[in-house]
Amino acid sequence: MPRKIVIDTDPGIDDAMAIFYALRSPELEVLGLTTVYGNAHTETCTINALRLLEIAGRPDIPVAEGAHRPLVSRFHGPADFVHGKDGQGDTFLPPAAAKPVGVHAAQFLIDAVMSDPGNVTIVALGPLTNVAMALLLRPDLPAYTREIVLMGGNAYVPGNASPAAEANIFNDPAAADIVFGAACPVTMAGLDVTSRIRMTADDLDRFATFPNAESQHMARLLPCYRSFYYGQLGVHEILVHDSTTISWLLHPELFTVEARPVRVETEGISRGKTWPANKSSRPDSDWEGRPAVNILVAANGPEAVRVELEAFAR
Ligand code: BDR
Ligand code: CA
Repeated sequence: MPRKIVIDTDPGIDDAMAIFYALRSPELEVLGLTTVYGNAHTETCTINALRLLEIAGRPDIPVAEGAHRPLVSRFHGPADFVHGKDGQGDTFLPPAAAKPVGVHAAQFLIDAVMSDPGNVTIVALGPLTNVAMALLLRPDLPAYTREIVLMGGNAYVPGNASPAAEANIFNDPAAADIVFGAACPVTMAGLDVTSRIRMTADDLDRFATFPNAESQHMARLLPCYRSFYYGQLGVHEILVHDSTTISWLLHPELFTVEARPVRVETEGISRGKTWPANKSSRPDSDWEGRPAVNILVAANGPEAVRVELEAFAR
């Protein structure tokens, strides 16, 4: 039986890669995509989610549009310098024929989990606004959720949106603090691992050689992403962010996990910093009574890249 997942996403070049990776993995069944702002405005992310499903030949999978801004703060604006003005590497594809369903993403997430209580995993690839809204609307939702696995945060390494914070958490720290407090298994695939899982120029060049529509689309998107990372790293490599959630679901043996409560700084210059508890915290600290989060702290990067490319090649 494939594992049921629903993907909350702001596509996004690496979101596209993660969505295709999931769709091309028979071990997973994608129940739907829910959209959020982040790499682009929410309307654009919804159009992109529909496009990606059409490219993958899965227009039957529903898309539900979600929040247009964070819970309590303003949206700082799209990451078009990373993902292009259209969130898809400035490829400006025509919109898909399908339309989003008329249900808010937060309600869609609730309905997806409750359609098979205990067996549905939420995979979150963007700011956590929709997931937090679902938890606020249905406080008992964690009791029925198999796992929440999210790309976001930085436990022991610097941020990427600021020295303190990773982009997804930076975009809605209040929502992230709610999600890290959920009483179900929560797995944080943050920069501690995603900044160390890298596709090289040779890896990236392979997408164009795979004869399927998803790989061909990635080959069109990747030059934009690659040139951003060339500016950052000075080498032709990319960091594999969002796909790491899928690698965790398929190959948990590739990761080292540390189980600790996580709190999020919601204000000030360290806004969006994810703080794991440490052993010397006072018993009455702000971490007290919070559930342990599975923080991914190390990974077998080359093997994670190999298994992902294998999914695109088949
Ligand atoms: C995260 O931010 C977004 O730009 C990416 O899609 C990824 O989800 C990386 O920090
Ligand atoms: Ca993303």
